[in-house]
Amino acid sequence: MTDFQGQVAIITGAASGLGLAIAKKLLNEGAKVGLLDYNETALKNEFDHFPDQSESIVLDITRQDLVESAIEQILKRFGRIDILVNCAGITGITNTHSHLVSSENLHKVFELNFMASFYTSKAVLPSMLANNYGRILHIASIAGKEGNAGMLAYSASKAAVIGMTKVQGKEYAENGITVNALAPAVIQTPLVAAMPEAQVKYMTDKIPMKRCGTLEEAANLATYIVSKENSFTTGFTFDLSGGRATY
Ligand SMILES: NC(=O)c1ccc[n+]([C@@H]2O[C@H](COP(=O)([O-])OP(=O)(O)OC[C@H]3O[C@@H](n4cnc5c(N)ncnc54)[C@H](O)[C@@H]3O)[C@@H](O)[C@H]2O)c1
Repeated sequence: MTDFQGQVAIITGAASGLGLAIAKKLLNEGAKVGLLDYNETALKNEFDHFPDQSESIVLDITRQDLVESAIEQILKRFGRIDILVNCAGITGITNTHSHLVSSENLHKVFELNFMASFYTSKAVLPSMLANNYGRILHIASIAGKEGNAGMLAYSASKAAVIGMTKVQGKEYAENGITVNALAPAVIQTPLVAAMPEAQVKYMTDKIPMKRCGTLEEAANLATYIVSKENSFTTGFTFDLSGGRATY
């Protein structure tokens, strides 16, 4: 059992899917949460009844200046940041081939999946360093480990996230800060619902357990990764793929 009483967590993409499930679990286990998303209505509906424990900030997290002021706002309100979970992500256009990929779409996917995770981690690290404690979790994907055909932008951006995790894990290993990633296969969320059926079938057919992961399974593993108990693993990409990746 983990207990997040007295801890402050920032979750991006908290209005939907994995981010929402992880934020709710951390809230229920006593954490104060800073919630970053551009879906104002969903943030309001999900978190307005936790006024003392939560601070919702509506922003486009691909804007570094807005990320910096959001982190300042949360520090001002709660006084510390122990945990960062980067969940906001998009697939971009999928079910296509590399010679047909638009550079514009590739840039857009990298801007959110990779750059925004860099912006948030850069912004929280000074206060984690000052406290000699921190837990950062970047949500990557099995696509970043294996490369899903038809998903160049998404797979490459998630591989970049895995690379950043390895770098950051080593850089802060002596500062009480762990930086890990999580690589899910398919979990039914609005992100998956928006993808072409053929692309989703390609991904789910590869899962040995012959089922999708659940949000509860994702939230359970994510909260363990950002807990105090997870103290000797850093720079690592945890698997959540029903047996697809055994490395
Ligand atoms: N669902 C899966 O099967 C799966 C598998 C592997 C990895 N992932 C990763 O998990 C993470 C969460 O995915 P999900 O399925 O929960 O997605 P989702 O679409 O349900 O949620 C993503 C959230 O990010 C927010 N968001 C998107 N762009 C934003 C921006 N520019 N600024 C602020 N907020 C923004 C959206 O409003 C939404 O609330 C993503 O990084 C995704 O790549 C998901």
